[in-house]
Amino acid sequence: MNNLKDVDIEVFTAIEEEKNRQKNHLELIASENFVSKAVLEAQGSIMTNKYAEGYPGKRYYGGCEYIDVVENLAKERLKKLFNVNYVNVQPHSGSQANMAAYRSVLNDGDKILGMALDHGGHLTHGYTLSFSGQDYISYTYGVSKDTEMIDYDEVERIALEIKPNLIVAGASAYPRMIDFKRFREIADKVGAYLMVDMAHIAGLVATGLHQNPCEYADIVTSTTHKTLRGPRGGIIMTNNEEIAKKIDKAVFPGIQGGPLMHVISAKAVAFKEALSPEFVTYQEQVIKNAKVLANRLMENGFHVISNGTDNHLLLVDVKSKSGLTGKAVENLLGTINITVNKNTIPNDQEKPFLASGIRLGTPALTTRGMKEEEMVEIADIITSALINHDNQEKLNLLKEEVISLCNRFPLDY
Ligand SMILES: Cc1ncc(COP(=O)(O)O)c(C=O)c1O
Repeated sequence: MNNLKDVDIEVFTAIEEEKNRQKNHLELIASENFVSKAVLEAQGSIMTNKYAEGYPGKRYYGGCEYIDVVENLAKERLKKLFNVNYVNVQPHSGSQANMAAYRSVLNDGDKILGMALDHGGHLTHGYTLSFSGQDYISYTYGVSKDTEMIDYDEVERIALEIKPNLIVAGASAYPRMIDFKRFREIADKVGAYLMVDMAHIAGLVATGLHQNPCEYADIVTSTTHKTLRGPRGGIIMTNNEEIAKKIDKAVFPGIQGGPLMHVISAKAVAFKEALSPEFVTYQEQVIKNAKVLANRLMENGFHVISNGTDNHLLLVDVKSKSGLTGKAVENLLGTINITVNKNTIPNDQEKPFLASGIRLGTPALTTRGMKEEEMVEIADIITSALINHDNQEKLNLLKEEVISLCNRFPLDY
């Protein structure tokens, strides 16, 4: 068979250019990471050719014997990783995992209570433009104005008032530990299901560096591609056998057809990697790096939301120090090869498209081998770029510094 370069030079070239971009930019998007070559190899494998509707041992297609081996490996490893009894590794994405999770225990028109998008929640936690805000009646909780952290008493007050059928805990932009035990207590008080979406922190949970939601929630969902450092995809977990059966039906045939077996193969590899002692060291460094980055930015005069971080990410209020919006800073840093995303901060006065903040995460740079020293350097580069945002000569020098940092920590692709 012909290789990509010969068949399609345009796609080949775009992939090569993307590879160079990844190598020569500092990746600070909190939800991204660099998978191992082993994960890439599994995902790029011939497993993509196979139809395998159904589950191991119960397929709607012949020839699934090796597919079953791989899906069972993924399932067993995932159970071990999070110490949980029932898992589904087929969701194509985090959003589909959440859709299946809701559909397994809720009816259309039921009430859900999730974290507000502009306080750090995810679209699928009840946002009006998402299926989750359309199929269900959604309510939100947020962070306290003073501490910029979740006020659990306030969550309880809202829950008692609206009596949701399901409470969602978990976030896309929340820099602090989440107390799932407290969420369980609140859910029990109002007779609600508790679902935890641990997409962002799954790697920290897997290594014991964050409370494990599987001990408390009725259902836990996650992506596999963020701190967990696997291929792009979703997973669902539970300790309740009845709910597990409903989850399986909700995924297939409820919302999906054939599973992406090349992705499930890559998930299995990633779970094996996540069970290794090196993965613990990696996640410890992810947190150390985030703390140093936050502290240095605060020393440099920035307001970091909640005054720091406990996990892999931080939210920086760029508007109050520089006068620039999050969007302007995202663009500015892009010109010196630093990739970040704009993010609303709690009670943001800017529209979400502009935002007053940026979200920074350390999983990807930590995978490259960067440590505390580099985080200080990066915080200083970001600070200098914002101060000198209209000084092109200075920005050129900062870009050179970024590229030299990237060269010192090469990406092995
Ligand atoms: C907390 C959380 N849940 C779910 C998702 C959705 O994942 P996906 O993009 O794979 O649909 C994300 C993605 O950013 C997320 O942060």
